[in-house]
Amino acid sequence: MDLKDKIVICNGKIRPVALEYLQDKVTLKSWQQRGRVPEEQWKEWLQEADALYSTGNIRIDETLLQKAPKLQVVAQASVGYDNIDVEACNARNVKIGNTPGVLVNAVADIAYALLIDTARNIVRGHLHTKNGLWGERKALGLGVDLYNKTLGIVGFGDIGSAIAKRAQASGMRIIYHNRNRRLNDAALGARYVSWEELLQTSDFIAVAVTLNPSTRGMFDEAAFAAMKDGARFVNISRGKVVDTDALYNAVKSGKVAAAGLDVTEPEPLPGDHPLLTLPNITVTPHIASATEETRDEMALVTAQNIIAALSGQPMLAQVK
Ligand code: DGY
Repeated sequence: MDLKDKIVICNGKIRPVALEYLQDKVTLKSWQQRGRVPEEQWKEWLQEADALYSTGNIRIDETLLQKAPKLQVVAQASVGYDNIDVEACNARNVKIGNTPGVLVNAVADIAYALLIDTARNIVRGHLHTKNGLWGERKALGLGVDLYNKTLGIVGFGDIGSAIAKRAQASGMRIIYHNRNRRLNDAALGARYVSWEELLQTSDFIAVAVTLNPSTRGMFDEAAFAAMKDGARFVNISRGKVVDTDALYNAVKSGKVAAAGLDVTEPEPLPGDHPLLTLPNITVTPHIASATEETRDEMALVTAQNIIAALSGQPMLAQVK
């Protein structure tokens, strides 16, 4: 099918692998320079766009859709799509594609790294050394083993299960809480428990839920209060599932011994944010999927989703 007259727009950079895939098939308008496309230019592009390649950095809602009357598909290079108003897209028959699957291992690796960091002071130890304090390493205190500890995973989809596999290699017991119990949980070496049991019995908690109305703010003051004293907390899902003040208070008081966050609320997290004043919190800047291989795969799936949707074929992954 000749799609050459179809216009695909992107307000940021498209990775070479996806550029190559798209550029002979469609008419592509992307902003391959630093920063964002100028506002006037963007408005013009929206007006004529059949497809939007989204890198996830803009809100896609009724206001944007009104400016894009021909739009048939939004393909986003991420698994999360909380920046997209799904109802508004559905109401206008705009299909939404995303990229689950391809980023599972990269994200699970970061979760595992943060888990180990909360137990073993890796980042703190580095800063200590860098500050010339190697000789005073006792000041860091002792870490704790992962071995023989209980990891509670909240959200047991592909990423949650991939975190479980990595934690099993460290000899952890895995419990999980999820909207629905997973049929194959025994094969994954994980036991389904209630939300309350997970909070009360986990030595470590890793959060891998999607952000939706039922998960928004689920880690609030009550949730932190219900945790074991000295629990360790890792979040690689979305910052908005956590009440930031409640987390700050829980870590400051010692209720939570350490936290590792790849996602925060707000994002970007300002360098002078109170969370960063606490020595036992490690924050990475939402880089869980940021590897060369994974970003290439995400870009390619996004490009393939666009071509599929414009050709009337099923996308590799569609948000319903
Ligand atoms: C996702 O895909 O939702 C990730 O958070 C992006 O890195």
